[in-house]
Amino acid sequence: MDFLYEKILRPLFFTQDAETAHEISIRLLRILDAIPFAVHTLERINLRPRHSKPIRLFDLDFPNRVGLAAGFDKYAQVWPTFGALGFGHAEIGTFTLHPQDGNPKPRVFRYPQAEAVVNSFGFPNPGAEVIAHRLAQGPGKGARTIPIGINIGKSKITPLDTACEDYVNSFRLLADHADFLVINISSPNTPGLRELQGRAHLTTLLETLQRENLQRTVRLNAPRIPILLKIAPDLSYPQLEEILAIATAVALDGIVATNTTIERPQTAGDMETRGGLSGRPLLEKSLSIVRFMARASNGKLPIIGCGGICHPDDAARFMDEGASLVQIFTGMIYRGPFFPAALARTLAWSHRPWA
Ligand SMILES: Cc1cc2nc3c(=O)[nH]c(=O)nc-3n(C[C@H](O)[C@H](O)[C@H](O)COP(=O)(O)O)c2cc1C
Repeated sequence: MDFLYEKILRPLFFTQDAETAHEISIRLLRILDAIPFAVHTLERINLRPRHSKPIRLFDLDFPNRVGLAAGFDKYAQVWPTFGALGFGHAEIGTFTLHPQDGNPKPRVFRYPQAEAVVNSFGFPNPGAEVIAHRLAQGPGKGARTIPIGINIGKSKITPLDTACEDYVNSFRLLADHADFLVINISSPNTPGLRELQGRAHLTTLLETLQRENLQRTVRLNAPRIPILLKIAPDLSYPQLEEILAIATAVALDGIVATNTTIERPQTAGDMETRGGLSGRPLLEKSLSIVRFMARASNGKLPIIGCGGICHPDDAARFMDEGASLVQIFTGMIYRGPFFPAALARTLAWSHRPWA
């Protein structure tokens, strides 16, 4: 299967620019979704490696440890198909309260030698209201085969001092459709967004969202929605310690570590300077953030490890460092649609202590 992708499909995809190739893959998944029983049949083959137990986390059952990272399904078009590719969960978005087009094209660049991508998408999406409507057309929370995380970010037109309201309004529109929510304050492509990782902004934002979450739970008599925070790989250890203290104080459910980096490792060669770098050159950096967060929290704060996973050993290293689950994006661009299932199988059959 890897051979099929690497020798035939990938060269075909790579004749197109990166964003067009991405759009083609979305179209192919829409076709898959339209074929009767195709998704269901592939789910049965790919989703749960034989003999493995589901992973219980955030009061949810994950059929395996491998998830799709945010940024692939930016318009909530194909999320019901991700289980068929073997993903045990998927994060969709980033969605913002207001519709927006994102940054001008070209805004995605591939670097095959380095197995890397640089993107400066800037959260193009039709806005939380349209997304809520789209999500309502698909399988509801109880009827899904894999947990779906909804990633929310700040609208570009919203100034930083009213960012909190912007996130809360997105929360109100999207919470009913989310198995878990991920608060994105770490994309490098929305001016000022990463400033929300600072103590004052972050405390207000997370306290407000948790209050809103609790009020929703009481009002609807529904379970509360797990809330996670997605952090950048470019934070210093003191900054990470600060985030951890805030996460503990507001009883945050977990961390997604990490988003893309604004740094360009020299070893990766010449690259586009605008935007965030993902893929293999990010691996060691993301691993070091997961290692630090897991140790500093004594393993008490669940971490989803993400960044540069291009091989099953990379995913196993995230687990060794203390991650509970992993996510991939760029690795799938280079390894293909059979990669998530292969990764999940390797992790499930590992003899490491966490398996
Ligand atoms: C093309 C592209 C678009 C992305 N868009 C988003 C996004 O909208 N929101 C987000 O939180 N992360 C986004 N990311 C970051 C990924 O979710 C992930 O954190 C990062 O790419 C590291 O994982 P990887 O090396 O496996 O790709 C994007 C990544 C790529 C490559």
